[in-house]
Amino acid sequence: MATSGGHGPAAGGIAPEDFESLRLFLDESCGIVLGPHKAYLVRSRLGPLLRELGYRGFGELVRDLRTGARRGLRERVIEAMTTNETSWFRDRYPYALLEHELLPAFGRARVPRIRIWSAACSTGQEPYSISITAHELGQREPGLLPPLEIVGTDISPAVLEVARRGVYDEHAVRRGLTPERLRRHFRRVEGGWEVLPHVRAPVRFRPLNLLESYALLGRFHVIFCRNVLIYFDPERRRDILERMARTLEPGGALILGSSETLPAELQPRFRALRAHGGICYCLPP
Ligand SMILES: C[S@@+](CC[C@H](N)C(=O)[O-])C[C@H]1O[C@@H](n2cnc3c(N)ncnc32)[C@H](O)[C@@H]1O
Repeated sequence: MATSGGHGPAAGGIAPEDFESLRLFLDESCGIVLGPHKAYLVRSRLGPLLRELGYRGFGELVRDLRTGARRGLRERVIEAMTTNETSWFRDRYPYALLEHELLPAFGRARVPRIRIWSAACSTGQEPYSISITAHELGQREPGLLPPLEIVGTDISPAVLEVARRGVYDEHAVRRGLTPERLRRHFRRVEGGWEVLPHVRAPVRFRPLNLLESYALLGRFHVIFCRNVLIYFDPERRRDILERMARTLEPGGALILGSSETLPAELQPRFRALRAHGGICYCLPP
């Protein structure tokens, strides 16, 4: 239980030094850059957590963050401050690129296994959409694709738990799934719709902070790194993409969010493939 030392009531303001400590914590722990005028964001995102955990003010929470006195607090703060917004087949073009360009190319190249990384996968819609895309292509063109392995990673244990469970409510399935896909790839269960085993089988999830090493993941043919780079400063973005480039197989492709671009220094290493209303960045074969 929290003790005294806070600054004002939970619903109230945040002292400048507490805001600064939180800013530093987020920057160092997960790379999230909080601008100097984002105190309102901290109040709105962390206010409910403050109340839930019984803190009387941000000062108490910051103190526990610093000392590590409260187990799981760091993860809860990161979770509250990150955006987990996602949907099925988000922006469509990444999946069209996969289906019409990338998967057939690796299939024709007879690689023994296609490995795809969904970095910052949130609640799983991205890796499962990849799996559905590959499954549908495999059914249309039997023998084209080798076995697939899809690795979904995220910093947040809470979103990974949802992803592993693979059950989505009506609201979530309505965001990007056609009725036909819902019928083919899900079954009704209590509380919503569960992904069927053929969608789940190639996918595994593991926690990973993108600021840390990727060495244990192995190499990939395609990396989805979408709608997460926006949180980081340019130097971190460059470092993450540089290290991702090193985990790509020759001919491998990087797919970013629709508002994210490859930093100029990295562009000479990739060939930009523009098709299906979008873009991906491919290494030379
Ligand atoms: C907006 S979601 C993007 C989900 C999905 N890629 C998409 O485009 O729909 C951003 C995800 O990035 C995760 N994230 C934030 N900082 C991270 C970090 N340092 N390492 C790994 N994941 C992080 C969050 O937990 C969140 O689930």
